[in-house]
Amino acid sequence: MIALAAAAVYAAATCHVAGQQRIPPATYAEARAVVDRRCVPCHARRPSNRAFPIPPRGIVLENAEDLARNAERVRVRAVVERTMPLANLSGMTQEERDILGSWIESSAAIR
Ligand code: HEC
Repeated sequence: MIALAAAAVYAAATCHVAGQQRIPPATYAEARAVVDRRCVPCHARRPSNRAFPIPPRGIVLENAEDLARNAERVRVRAVVERTMPLANLSGMTQEERDILGSWIESSAAIR
């Protein structure tokens, strides 16, 4: 089962095929741009969204280390279940979810 999951992750990382075209996995910079736009208004040490005086569930996604540390939870909520952003208040698109998923599934490397 673990081997199967590993194989699936490996396949996702190596064979991003869009139509006939192979596209490389998304970079940290691309993932960062998405997270800054769609998540950081709430998931910051001092959220700019005034409904949240503190980061919800203590999840902070402001810098590279924050994001790498929370990558698996981010993947589950924003890519798989699509239950984040909350009620999609920040208007995240499917393309942005794909970028985030591609970066996490390929490596979640921050350098
Ligand atoms: C409008 C505010 C808001 C935005 C924007 C937002 N979140 Fe959240 N987030 C919340 C709230 C509130 C919770 C706690 C309730 C819950 O878990 O559903 C939460 C919880 C979470 C959790 C914790 C779940 C767990 O496993 O405990 C993760 C991970 C998360 N958000 C990721 C994200 C990501 C990734 C984005 C951007 C794609 C995002 N959130 C955007 C408000 C927000």
